[in-house]
Amino acid sequence: MNRREIVLASIVHVLGARPNFVKAAPVIDALRARGAAQAVVHTGQHYDERMSEIFFRELGLPEPDVNLGVGSGSHAAQTAALMIGLEAEFLARTPDLIVVYGDVNSTIAAALVAAKLHIPVAHVEAGLRSFDMTMPEEVNRRLTDQLSDLCLVTSPEAIGHLAAEGVPTGRTHLVGNPMIDTLLKNLDHFDTAAVRAAHGLPERYVLATVHRPANVDDPATAAALVKHLHGVADLADLVIPVHPRGRANLIAAGLDTHPGVHVLEPLGYIDFLAAVRGAATVVTDSGGLQEETTILGVPCLTIRPNTERPITITHGTNRLVTFDDLVPQTRKALETERGEGTRKPPLWDGAAGPRIADVIMEFLGE
Ligand code: UD1
Repeated sequence: MNRREIVLASIVHVLGARPNFVKAAPVIDALRARGAAQAVVHTGQHYDERMSEIFFRELGLPEPDVNLGVGSGSHAAQTAALMIGLEAEFLARTPDLIVVYGDVNSTIAAALVAAKLHIPVAHVEAGLRSFDMTMPEEVNRRLTDQLSDLCLVTSPEAIGHLAAEGVPTGRTHLVGNPMIDTLLKNLDHFDTAAVRAAHGLPERYVLATVHRPANVDDPATAAALVKHLHGVADLADLVIPVHPRGRANLIAAGLDTHPGVHVLEPLGYIDFLAAVRGAATVVTDSGGLQEETTILGVPCLTIRPNTERPITITHGTNRLVTFDDLVPQTRKALETERGEGTRKPPLWDGAAGPRIADVIMEFLGE
């Protein structure tokens, strides 16, 4: 980027990890349509081609203006490296607003740096709470919201969470869910038959993803989880694109030794959602997938003791399960009529990006 463009870039989007890319695409699109000057700073928290570049290509995201190449590390080491890189970047670009997404370490690092430099922050997906401070994401969410000038909320209960934590109500805006904008925009491209053919998958399968530290970091816990996933594979073929975080422990526990288990590399956005759309049931510990299955009407079993997305239970297809519940609940879900009992959460309508852009432009006085 040349010097003149740097001076004009008044909105900086900070993106670092896979779910950020899916949320940012419609926001960047809508701001572009309003003529906003914007730049994308990729922190490099996720760096594998399959965790990063493929999403930029498929979602039509602009090439990042810079990639800080921070990479992996302990929470302290990664967050510190993120902050040092972002501080230099913000000082050079002098943006009028930083936009951060979700609850990953890049999110809190950017908010903290911006606040100390007195640069306003907009937080997309503010106010979600699992009330479980053992999750790094809950720490990141709470602190990011305290530091944000605009709390852009995907779900009505988040408004109450923010108010209870003392966030002035004027900062909070219910805008809907930009992840669902991306899903609805790409729906016609989710070709289940093509993804089945490409990966040699059967017609009927359960799709699983697991990557939460609480489920995969401890070898004994990962081994217990694998035992239950094999129980699921006794009921129906199990397709599992494996996040790099859990790969070593899950494979060491014999994940791929069951003949009904199909272990895949991480998939790009289009292939992954095509696989989700065609699944008989989804088993996951992801946050975003609880929302995507709600809109696609696919039964979702979330292997966690809590969720920061309760609207996917009240309105959608989601259900929390323990390891011990997993097999009986999968059996039940496989008998459930697809799409049964789902209501769309308010404003999950494909127009969250434009609403977020309107709030941002008004905040900037444009
Ligand atoms: C991060 C987020 C999590 C989100 C997830 C989505 C935090 C605290 N967590 O978790 O909320 O649900 O992204 O994917 O920010 N790795 C690779 N290649 C990559 C990226 C990671 O091999 O491109 C491996 C490395 O071994 C790394 C590990 O995955 O140490 C964890 O990566 P990290 O970004 O620290 O956290 P995630 O588990 O991906």
